[in-house]
Amino acid sequence: MTFPSAVSVASERSEDRDGEAVAVAYPNIALVKYWGKRDETLFLPVTGSLSMTLDIFPTTTSVRLIDGPADTVELNDAAATGTALARVEKFLDLVRAKAGRTDRAAVVTANAGPTGAGLASSASGFAALATAAAAAYGLDLDGRALSRLARRGSGSASRSIFGGFVVWHAGDGDGEAGDLSSYAEPIGGDELDPALVVAVVEAGAKAVSSRVAMRQTTETSPFYRPWAESSVLDLAEMRKAVARQDLPAIGEIAERNALGMHATMLTARPAIRYLSPHSLAILDAVLALRADGIVAYATIDAGPNVKVLCTRADAPLVAATIEGLGEFVTTRTAHIGPGARLTTGGDGE
Ligand code: DP6
Repeated sequence: MTFPSAVSVASERSEDRDGEAVAVAYPNIALVKYWGKRDETLFLPVTGSLSMTLDIFPTTTSVRLIDGPADTVELNDAAATGTALARVEKFLDLVRAKAGRTDRAAVVTANAGPTGAGLASSASGFAALATAAAAAYGLDLDGRALSRLARRGSGSASRSIFGGFVVWHAGDGDGEAGDLSSYAEPIGGDELDPALVVAVVEAGAKAVSSRVAMRQTTETSPFYRPWAESSVLDLAEMRKAVARQDLPAIGEIAERNALGMHATMLTARPAIRYLSPHSLAILDAVLALRADGIVAYATIDAGPNVKVLCTRADAPLVAATIEGLGEFVTTRTAHIGPGARLTTGGDGE
């Protein structure tokens, strides 16, 4: 399966859509996590990460340049305020600085999936915003530059610029050298065509944002360094496992990497705990499935929701097993999805 890269689409259309652009981007779920920044301003990660872009829960974002004195931001039919508004304004300032323009913008964005619930809405959100804003402000960026730009809105957004399996390089050094070398790129392996059963136990926004949790963990957990060191090894092994399309190995590495990341949070001071009893019940069900010979492995981000990696053929059984645990959980099954792209209309589901 191949998808058109954001690159060619963005550059093809950026000129004729100068002033207004609409983009759609999908969330990605990391199989080797990004957890910790070495530079908070440039969003340079401590370690590289690897993800799978999904084909569900897209974000559709339009950016229109306006004459008004301030940016306006509408998120899921309501005016954005506070931190959400500030993050978008700051991001647009960056785009304006790159484009050498001062126009304010009207941004309208809608998430088809839950917002701020550890389901990667900031990844799809900033990938869509970067793609639409670059086009609206007349920037002609290739995929690597677009990925570096999206990174400045939310680190994980750098990966949603591309479809399929994607690696985000930590990059070398600090300052400009770090900025130039820290970008995402697709790594192939899409023929594997796995499924990711997303088990939603909590669709509301989380109490502690991943950004805050990440900072608190890197600064205070004695487990952070060991996890980061082992994550570098996990990434190297994961790349090989993706290249040979070895789903059990991919799952095993993904699960241990995610549980290790949660161990760093649990040992932060004060501790941060996203896992709920419902998350643990799903982890138990995944273990039971494996005991029955099903290739099923779990990963969990900054929230209690669990994503289970399995084959496309096993996905209905995995979903039914999880739903059978009780009414506290619903599932959506995702497969490999495409990179961010410009579109003339909304195509959120
Ligand atoms: C647990 O990309 O949301 O999902 O860069 O501060 O915006 P900021 O953080 P964000 O963190 C994602 C953390 C994660 C793991 C991952 O996606 O790799």
